[in-house]
Amino acid sequence: MNIILLGPPGAGKGTQAEKLVAERGMVQLSTGDMLRAAVKAETPIGLQAKAVMEAGQLVSDEIVSGLIGEKLDSMAKDAGAIFDGYPRTEAQALSLDEILKSRGRSLDHVIELEVNEDALVERITGRFTCAKCGAGYHDTFKQPKVEGVCDVCQSTEFKRRPDDNEETVRTRMAEYRAKTAPILPIYEARGLVKRVDGMAAMDAVTAQIAAILDGK
Ligand code: AP5
Repeated sequence: MNIILLGPPGAGKGTQAEKLVAERGMVQLSTGDMLRAAVKAETPIGLQAKAVMEAGQLVSDEIVSGLIGEKLDSMAKDAGAIFDGYPRTEAQALSLDEILKSRGRSLDHVIELEVNEDALVERITGRFTCAKCGAGYHDTFKQPKVEGVCDVCQSTEFKRRPDDNEETVRTRMAEYRAKTAPILPIYEARGLVKRVDGMAAMDAVTAQIAAILDGK
């Protein structure tokens, strides 16, 4: 099964993708994570992407579609793919069609997380991750069980994304409205779009997605 998780910054795409990986053995293809890894490793792509990401704008279509193709090629052929943060433009949506077709894959669902943008600013500016294992937390919604200690790997070091300040979040949302939301009709015309209430509690969102994947 191959699915797209679509929604503005902070909608919960990464959170739900992590759950699908843990519960269904699918593979998460997050272009944001791939780009952040490239920035950290100071690869040519990372050096090109760093300033664009910190400004909240979109990295070039060619770069991200290239990353997606490489990642798919590294996966087991029968592993399901969760596209998280990709596609984000019409050009990327068309590239994804080609990428999937040439690898004998097709899309099963495009799941749109419907959310209230004002609430998302709080979600994003409050989030942090374990600097060692990457487990995600939030100042209000998901604190570590023991304060200052990662639940997963017990590290005491945490970090925040440089693009998670309010000004950049507003730019990222404007980019979503201008360039990403307009791709929904492409998938609506194919009958692939399913909507879930992304403002519900995390587990309730997971349950809505599970019902879609299980055809209930
Ligand atoms: P990317 O990393 O994709 O960021 P994004 O789309 O802005 O999405 P986020 O990761 O911020 O949010 P999310 O929906 O995953 O939410 P999360 O689950 O973390 O992209 C970053 C940048 O990379 C882009 O700006 C661009 O520059 C570049 N880029 C990436 N892909 C690209 C592409 N295809 N083309 C061009 N450029 C690209 O949740 C947020 C917080 O809310 C968490 O703390 C979580 O714990 C909490 N939370 C989640 N769900 C709930 C819930 N139901 N209730 C309460 N809290 C919740």
